[in-house]
Order: sequence, then structure tokens, then C-alpha cells
Amino acid sequence: MMTDQKLIAAAREAARHSYSPYSNFAVGAALRFADGSVVTGTNIENASYGLALCAEAVAVSKAMSEGVRGGLVAVAVTGPGSEPITPCGRCRQVLNELAQLGGTDPEILCVGPDAVTRLRLSDLLPHAFGPASLA
Ligand code: THU
Repeated sequence: MMTDQKLIAAAREAARHSYSPYSNFAVGAALRFADGSVVTGTNIENASYGLALCAEAVAVSKAMSEGVRGGLVAVAVTGPGSEPITPCGRCRQVLNELAQLGGTDPEILCVGPDAVTRLRLSDLLPHAFGPASLA
């Protein structure tokens, strides 16, 4: 099983491919699944600024487009600043869809240069609207 340190390293590695010439804010995300597999993503910006894709959403899109529909157990997110960053609101919702499909409440590792803040997705997005809400 990939350790948290390796998951963090995978997120940092993904951030090396960030396309963020407008913000100069390179974000990396790494998703770990129950079978031990890992899918990464990084942010991809656009000359039309508002169309930026966040690292977490890219990672979820990669996983789901390969057929993944659950089993999300941990997420590492890295940013370039001096403090850990937490996923933006839209990314929380995007992560929640995949998590709810598999009935998990993933641990979110918000990674800074020194510290890692560990939160559950349900702490970041309480009272979430998800697939079960439509039932
Ligand atoms: N960004 C992410 O990739 N994930 C987040 O959760 C927060 C923000 C990106 C979007 C944009 O490319 C840059 O960080 C600055 O907002």
C-alpha cells in the first residue's frame, strides 16, 4: 500500500506539470484508491482565465474516465505557498461525487512545505449534496 509520504510525493510530482502561467500557482493532487492505485492531476489554466481546471478535478476526471466509480480513500493536495491549501469549493463537490459513489469519506491531506493538515472530506463539505440526494 502506498504510504502517505508517497502519495504526497506523487502530488508534488504532478504539480511539476502544472500549466499555470497566469497565476503561477502550481497545484498537485493525488488520489489513492482502496486497491492501492493512485491517480494524479495538476491545474491547467487558460488564456480565458475563468476556464482554469483545478488539480483535484483533473485527477477525478482522469480516474472516472478510466472507469473508476468509488474506493477513494485519500487525497493529497500540494500548493506552492508557505501554508497548506485546502481544495476549493468546486473541487470538494467533485471529490464528493466520487467518494459517495463508493461510500467512503476520504482523508484529505492538505500539504504545505512543513505541515500536513489532515481533514475528512465530510469536514470540508458538511451536509453535502450528492448522488444519494437524488434518490
Ligand atoms: N487551484 C487548484 O488547482 N485547486 C484548488 O483547490 C484551488 C485552486 C488552482 C486553480 C488556479 O489554476 C490556481 O490554483 C490559482 O487559483
